[in-house]
Amino acid sequence: MRTAVYPGSFDPITNGHLDIIRRASKLYDRLIVGVLDNINKKPLFSAMERKEMIDTQIKDLPNVSCDVFSGLLVDFAKQNGASVIIKGLRTVADFEYEFQMALLNKALNPEYETVFMMTDSKYSYISSSMVKEVAKYKGELNGLIPPDVIDKIKDKI
Ligand code: PNS
Repeated sequence: MRTAVYPGSFDPITNGHLDIIRRASKLYDRLIVGVLDNINKKPLFSAMERKEMIDTQIKDLPNVSCDVFSGLLVDFAKQNGASVIIKGLRTVADFEYEFQMALLNKALNPEYETVFMMTDSKYSYISSSMVKEVAKYKGELNGLIPPDVIDKIKDKI
């Protein structure tokens, strides 16, 4: 069985993330979305809130699940029997950062392959930080994040 993990902060999950989840779920038997609970960051949503928002969005994808993790990604992958790490790429700037992380993860544990998936062009400008900025100034969020997440972010801000 081929298992992949798709890690991120997902603060909050965007339509771009969801597109990667849907497409990756077709390539692997099992896909685990890993929500990083990073003690060094101050997220808008708690790790549990982020997981709950993702759970709602993946209800129709039987081979996808979501878990919170802290610590190293390669350890999370190992605990879940995954052999592949999925990363989404939007821009060249993403590539530089992701390339470095992929090499670091390979150095930490050579068993894992990082597989990069290009974002769909219609989502290439979306990021969680931009979404939070738009929400803060009461801009239009339709098309950037799922309707359920729009409600949650409006409650928060
Ligand atoms: O959505 P993000 O914030 O770009 O995701 C970053 C993430 C969670 C993939 C990355 O920070 C990560 O893997 N963190 C876990 C800690 C770790 O393994 N660090 C070493 C590799 S960078």
